[in-house]
Amino acid sequence: MVKPRELKVKPIKNGTVIDHITANKALAVLKILGIPSKKSAVTIAMNVPSSQMGNKDIVKIEGRELAPKEVDKIALIAPQATINIVRDYEIVEKGKVDLLKQIKDILNCLNPNCITNTEEPVTTRFYVMGKKPVILRCYYCERIMDEGEIESQL
Ligand code: CTP
Ligand code: ZN
Repeated sequence: MVKPRELKVKPIKNGTVIDHITANKALAVLKILGIPSKKSAVTIAMNVPSSQMGNKDIVKIEGRELAPKEVDKIALIAPQATINIVRDYEIVEKGKVDLLKQIKDILNCLNPNCITNTEEPVTTRFYVMGKKPVILRCYYCERIMDEGEIESQL
């Protein structure tokens, strides 16, 4: 029996392909995007071989493009992800998520005494201390947020 060299996942017609997701983070990406929903067809590949990354996840969503805030959240759990926008089977735009040096107004600080939790108009702000895994430090109270804490808030 002939063994196929590569298992290709079916192309999509219109929508978004999120590729190069950190292996096994596809479900966290889906949670960020509010999937499952009744609207979109979704294809997921988890822990598949990648020449660049060893292993990676892929999420394909028919008929949907992502909001900037969703892309910023994906960067926090999959800093190497690429976002491909597909129209009529062609990739019309290819971009990378961007993990900035500071993360503003996306996550809450878990220190109950932090000024961001006590003074109403102060919005949250974190320094990115590490990218592999992502580690954040609160700009105000210096509390460290680890990957698990970040993921549980997204
Ligand atoms: N893709 C898809 N449907 C299409 C076109 C592309 O699902 N109509 C998917 C491909 O399966 C792949 C991703 O979109 O997972 C990116 O496609 P492409 O840029 O052609 O692949 P690569 O060159 O390998 O991407 P990169 O350079 O980002 O590694
Ligand atoms: Zn804080």
